[in-house]
Amino acid sequence: MLGFIITAASLSSLSLLFSHASAIPVKRAVSGPVVIADFPDPSIIKIQDTWYAFATQPNFNGNIHIQIASSKDFSAWTVMSGADALPNMPSWVNTTSGNGLTWAPDVTQRDDGSFVMYYSAVTNTAGEGRLHCVGAATASSVTGPYAAVGNGPFVCPTDQGGAIDASGFRDQDRTRYVVYKVDGNAIGHGGSCNNGVAPIVPTPIMLQQVAEDGITKVGGPTQLLTNDASDGPVVEAPSMMRSPDGTYYLFFSSNCYATPDYDVAYATAFAPTGPFTKYGPLLKTGTYNLNGPGGADVDQDGKHMLFHANYGSGRAMYTAEIAVSGNLVTA
Ligand SMILES: *[C@@H]1O[C@H](CO)[C@@H](O)[C@H](O)[C@H]1NC(C)=O
Repeated sequence: MLGFIITAASLSSLSLLFSHASAIPVKRAVSGPVVIADFPDPSIIKIQDTWYAFATQPNFNGNIHIQIASSKDFSAWTVMSGADALPNMPSWVNTTSGNGLTWAPDVTQRDDGSFVMYYSAVTNTAGEGRLHCVGAATASSVTGPYAAVGNGPFVCPTDQGGAIDASGFRDQDRTRYVVYKVDGNAIGHGGSCNNGVAPIVPTPIMLQQVAEDGITKVGGPTQLLTNDASDGPVVEAPSMMRSPDGTYYLFFSSNCYATPDYDVAYATAFAPTGPFTKYGPLLKTGTYNLNGPGGADVDQDGKHMLFHANYGSGRAMYTAEIAVSGNLVTA
């Protein structure tokens, strides 16, 4: 297999893509699984000489809300066995069912050196014990333990299905944002991911500016993308980065995570608020022999990415080293 992937072009960008392709070094950039235990929706942050990965509550131990793994070289990863980055749930979380079903954490460092974690958990404010919302928690050490901020969620549009998959982004000018998914398929009409039957419910990816604390909202949210016919029922798992030339890359997954159509797709823009143009999958079933890759998070260096793919009976963590050139992303 070629070491670069030409799957991402819209017709209008083909000439741009081919003019860049010859400059892309050919190498195998995806590795894994690097964590074989069920370790879905990993997020990435590098602190000094160590990479940290945070993942969704595992199937094998529902008492752990947020898993942690680390690596010195981005190659060999060690799970902190039994560790829970978020041991105590705030009162807005319904822990009756599956300990809150805690999903898709993301850790960001603040300018004062402390850390903010965004996570998704089942809210009890909707009264039905099934809709997720996004919470925020803080810690002085990257591995936690993280303590919930206040008694309420950070983002919780239950009338639209709730919210999940929040991810922090600090722009070059130090402006901070959080991207997240409105979890519309949670109130969908059945089928794949409960959103494959018309009328399809929107699952927009939103951008919320926040203050330096990562939590205080500045203005209201902006919609960056939503699920259209090319995405199957869902877009989710957003992660944003900026390249040195000023292009903004929004990685996301389309289709349902429980199907082979799940992927790591991306869109680009010249401002964090968009408008974003979608460029199809970077990783999909078959790429590097992956099975249902998705849930990616890119490091703020714009080069290192974590994602999960189906492996055995769970979702294992993989790594990717990516390169960008204009509207082309390669792995
Ligand atoms: C909490 O979740 C349980 C189990 O799903 C559900 O029966 C209960 O109604 C939920 N409680 C609230 C306040 O939503």
